[in-house]
Amino acid sequence: MITISKMLENNRKWSSQITKTDPEYFLRTADNQTPEVLWIGCSDSRVGPDQLVSLPMGSVFVHRNIGNIFATNDLNCLAVLEYAVDELKVPNIVVCGHYRCGGVHAAMQHSGIQPVDLWLDQIRFIYQNHATKLDQLDGDERWNRLAEINVEAQVHNICRNTIVREAWKRGQDINIVGLIYDVHDGVLKQLGLEFNSIDSWRDYYKKTAP
Ligand code: CO
Repeated sequence: MITISKMLENNRKWSSQITKTDPEYFLRTADNQTPEVLWIGCSDSRVGPDQLVSLPMGSVFVHRNIGNIFATNDLNCLAVLEYAVDELKVPNIVVCGHYRCGGVHAAMQHSGIQPVDLWLDQIRFIYQNHATKLDQLDGDERWNRLAEINVEAQVHNICRNTIVREAWKRGQDINIVGLIYDVHDGVLKQLGLEFNSIDSWRDYYKKTAP
């Protein structure tokens, strides 16, 4: 079992390894950060964003919660988005989900009153909105399709948000995409959503309107 002293020992090795390969690293990054991606992902422990996209430390500003939800009424989500967009001026926002997500699975069951149930109601609503199509699929297929639809819904929540819309209006470059990965192989896939302006987002709605 892992212990705190083992973690501290690992940390000291890691720190001296970094300093050995790049002696200026901590000095260079101590004063500011210039990440190029805001990553909104699931808290799932199996794969972290830095490993998934193999970017150097300092590249990814991260927000994670159960089910990779961008909740428009959650102060934490809003603060992260505001800081990433208005202060750090990240040029990319990624919403990343994953197949076999426990949060998505729980959202397909009945709700309870525990905090995790209430949090997952946000995915449960999405499930109910797409129930006609989703209920035609079998177990794992339905689970995975809901994970994809959830990522799409969270991308739209971000595009709909005033922080992003005002930044786009000012001419700030922000590209917003939805990704998903398979826990079986760690391979990321783009979900066909990519928006870099209010117009690109509106066009999508025009094309997909019933
Ligand atoms: Co998950």
